[in-house]
Amino acid sequence: MCGIVGYIGNQQAEPILMDCLARLEYRGYDSSGVAVRENDKSNDIKIYKDAVRVSVLQKQSPHFNGSTGIAHTRWATHGPPSLLNAHPHLDCTGRFAVVHNGVITNYQELKRQLIKEGHNIVSETDTEVIPHLIEKFYKGNLEEAVKLTAALLIGSYAIIVLCKDEPKLVVAKMGSPLVIGIKDCEKFIASDTPAIINYTNKVVYLEDGDFGVITEDRVVITRNGEEIHREEKKVNWCKEDAQKTGYDHFMIKEIHEQPKVIRDMILEDALSDSKLTIGEDVQSLKIIACGTSYNAGLIGEYIIEELLGIPTTVVFGSEFNHRRAIFPNEAIVITQSGETADVLSAMKTMQNAGVKMLAITNVPGSTASRLSDRTIYTRAGPEISVAATKSFIAQLISLYQLVLLHPDVDNNIREQLVTELKDLPTKVEKLFDLEPQIIECAKYIAQCKDAFYVGRGINFPIALEGALKLKEVSYIHAEGYAAGELKHGPFALLNKGVPVIAIVAQDGNHESMLISIKEIKTRDAYVIALADEEDDSIDSSIDVVLRIPHTHALLSPVLHIIPLQLLAYYTAKLMSCSIDFPRNLAKSVTVE
Ligand code: G6P
Repeated sequence: MCGIVGYIGNQQAEPILMDCLARLEYRGYDSSGVAVRENDKSNDIKIYKDAVRVSVLQKQSPHFNGSTGIAHTRWATHGPPSLLNAHPHLDCTGRFAVVHNGVITNYQELKRQLIKEGHNIVSETDTEVIPHLIEKFYKGNLEEAVKLTAALLIGSYAIIVLCKDEPKLVVAKMGSPLVIGIKDCEKFIASDTPAIINYTNKVVYLEDGDFGVITEDRVVITRNGEEIHREEKKVNWCKEDAQKTGYDHFMIKEIHEQPKVIRDMILEDALSDSKLTIGEDVQSLKIIACGTSYNAGLIGEYIIEELLGIPTTVVFGSEFNHRRAIFPNEAIVITQSGETADVLSAMKTMQNAGVKMLAITNVPGSTASRLSDRTIYTRAGPEISVAATKSFIAQLISLYQLVLLHPDVDNNIREQLVTELKDLPTKVEKLFDLEPQIIECAKYIAQCKDAFYVGRGINFPIALEGALKLKEVSYIHAEGYAAGELKHGPFALLNKGVPVIAIVAQDGNHESMLISIKEIKTRDAYVIALADEEDDSIDSSIDVVLRIPHTHALLSPVLHIIPLQLLAYYTAKLMSCSIDFPRNLAKSVTVE
C-alpha cells in the first residue's frame, strides 16, 4: 500500500509532487521520496528519499530544478522502512527511476537472475527489480523497455518511470489504481484523484494492462500494442475537499461535513433510479466489505432482512476466498476506496462464478466500480482521514436508498422513512451541540485503558463501529458487543470505572437495553448512554446521558454513530495522537 505521483509540465516539479504526495499519505507514510529530471544539459536524475513522512521530506530535500519528476509515499511490505527501501528506486546507472504501488510476487526469482547478470541491487524491496529490468531492456526507447519489463512481472503494479534520456514519463498499470490528470501543458499522475484535484478535475482512469507515455501536452495510451482512447472524465470534487479549511484535522472536518453529505445523497432523483436496487427474484444476498464498510454492511443486512425478508449474510472481503464459497444470486460490495485488495479478490471470484454485483463506492472509476455490474456512487467527496466517518454515513444512506427502491417494501414504511431521511441532516447538525459534553466524556476515556460499546439489533453494528473508531485514532483498547453477550464473557473485565458506552435506541430492544445497563452498573462501570431526547426512562444512576434527536428506529444508526465518532476524535486529540494518519494504518489497503 503506497501512493505514487508523477508530474510533467512547465512548472517546477518538486513542490507540486510534494503537495500531491501529502494528499496521498493516507495510503502509507513510513517513508517517502522524490526524483526529478534536472532541467540542465546533464538531465541527471536527482533523488532524495528517507524513512520519513512527506512533511519532513519536504523540509529536508534539496530543491531540485526540473519540471519532470516522480514521488512516492511508502507503506512497507517488502523490507522495513529505511532509506534504502524507500522509493524511488534506481537502476545501476542512475538513468531510470521508478515508483511503484503493488506487490511483485516473483521478485525473488527476477532479483536472483539480475544479480547473476551483474546488477547491483541494494534494497530488500520487490520494486527494485523494475528499474534494473528496464536498464537491461533499454535500447533507446523507454516505452518498449517498460513493456518488456512488465511482461516479466507477476503480481500487481502501478508504476511511473522517469528516464534521464527521454523527456517523458512512462506508466503501466496492473491491479493497482492509476489516474492521469489533464491540464493544458501539464500532466499529473497519481494513485488516486484527491492527490491531484488541487490542479485539475479532468482525469483519465487507466485500466489493467494499459501503458501510457506522457509528455507535457500529450497522453498516449496503448494496450496489447495498439493505441487506444480512454475517455476523459470530469471529477465533481473541488480543491477545498482535499484541504482542512481551518479545521485542526481532516477527521473532524469530515465528521462536520456529514449533514451536507446526507443532503447531497437524498436529492429528489436519488430515490428514482430503479436499476440501483436488488433484483426482484433474488433469493439470497451476500454483502462483501472490510473495516468500517463491513460495519455498514451489517446494518445493510439488518434492513434488507427487516424490510425485504431476503436472507443476507455479510462476509469480510478478507475471508471470502478462505472458505467454501456459497455463491448468492446477487452480491452487494461496499468499499469506500473501491481498491481494497481483499474485496477486489472476492469480487473476481464472484465475477468468475457469474454472480451479479452491485458496488457501493465513493471513488468514481475505482476498480470495484469497474468489476461490478452496477454502481452506487456515494457522494461523500474525498475522504482523507484514515478513520472513515462521512463515507460510512454515505454508505448507510445508499443502503437505505437501495432497499427503499425495492418494490416489496411496504408503502407506509417507505413513506415514513423517506420523510425521516429528509429530516436527518438537520438532526445531525443538532448533534454537534453535544460536542462540549462529548469533550468531557473524552477526558474521562482518555485516561482509561479499555472501553466497551454495547448496542442491540440495528445498533449493534454501531457499537462495533464506535469501538473501531476509538481504537483506530486513540489506540485505546475498545470492544463493541451485542449488549446481551456481555454476560457471556466480557463481564469478567468490568470493574469500577471501566467506561461502557451504551446505545439505547427507542426501538423494540429498549427494555432489554435498560436491563443490560442495570447489570453493567451493578459492576460499578462508568456508563455513558446515548438515549433518545424523548426517552424519560433513563435511570439517574447512569453517569452521562447524551440526548439524541428522535428519528425512525431503522434510521437511528445514522444519529448514533456521530457522537461516537466525535468521542473517538476528541479522546485522540486530548492524547495528542496522530489523528488523521494513525500508526500502522492506511486508508486503502491495496495488498491482500
Ligand atoms: C482500511 C481503512 C478503513 C476502511 C477499510 C476498508 O482499513 O483504514 O477505514 O474501512 O480499509 O476500506 P474500503 O475502502 O474498502 O471501504
